[in-house]
Amino acid sequence: MENEKTIKEQLDEIAFNRTEDEIREMISSVNHLMTYYRCAMLEIETKFKVLNEQLSLRHERNPIENIKTRLKSFGSIKDKLERRELPVSLESIEENLNDVAGVRVICSFIDDIYMLAECLVQQDDIKLIEMKDYIKNPKENGYRSLHLIVEIPIFLCDEKKYMKVEVQLRTIAMEVWANLEHRLRYKKELSDDLLIKTAYELNECADLSHRLDLKMQKARDIIEGET
Ligand code: GTP
Ligand code: MG
Repeated sequence: MENEKTIKEQLDEIAFNRTEDEIREMISSVNHLMTYYRCAMLEIETKFKVLNEQLSLRHERNPIENIKTRLKSFGSIKDKLERRELPVSLESIEENLNDVAGVRVICSFIDDIYMLAECLVQQDDIKLIEMKDYIKNPKENGYRSLHLIVEIPIFLCDEKKYMKVEVQLRTIAMEVWANLEHRLRYKKELSDDLLIKTAYELNECADLSHRLDLKMQKARDIIEGET
């Protein structure tokens, strides 16, 4: 397992006073849980790939530009739980964290985002836990995306287990903006003055890129003869 060393290192910290067998058991349980999350993430990715195929038949174009998946490392999971002063245990991970498994879907147009989200959540095996529409209600800094927390069953030999996956849907322009903002946010050496200036510029960029998204959608409608 690629994460085994990190997981072991992290577990050593919380395994104080436990026997070697207990530690081995814990590592194995964490690995199991991470595998379940990976399976759930792959299931969601496949669902989007299937939707992309099917919708491309109807619209003669692909609504999805790109799909990215990521599994949170055990180190980040532990940090997040500790930051929130929550217990670091398997039950606590499942109960308190929604973003251990993440799927990001980059779409061509804003209306594709809503179409894909609707197609996903109406599927029988998907439970919608939460939807945050940062496109209709952008964050103060200008961040836009549609966020879903869904639960999807994974079928094991002897049981069916629902796992949570965080889905982020955004356009190419929203992705470019979010990546840039993320990079700048972690540039700690910026002075307060520069931070304020950067925040202002980023906000302007967010508005401009949203206008670009709307204009591109309009151009598409004209080309496809829908208006
Ligand atoms: P956590 O952030 O996971 O504790 O939960 P939350 O309920 O605050 O989640 P939210 O849906 O607001 O954001 C979750 C994820 O969306 C983050 O981990 C980022 O990937 C992305 N995101 C949210 N806000 C921003 C933002 O302002 N800028 C960027 N670049 N990404 C953001
Ligand atoms: Mg947050």
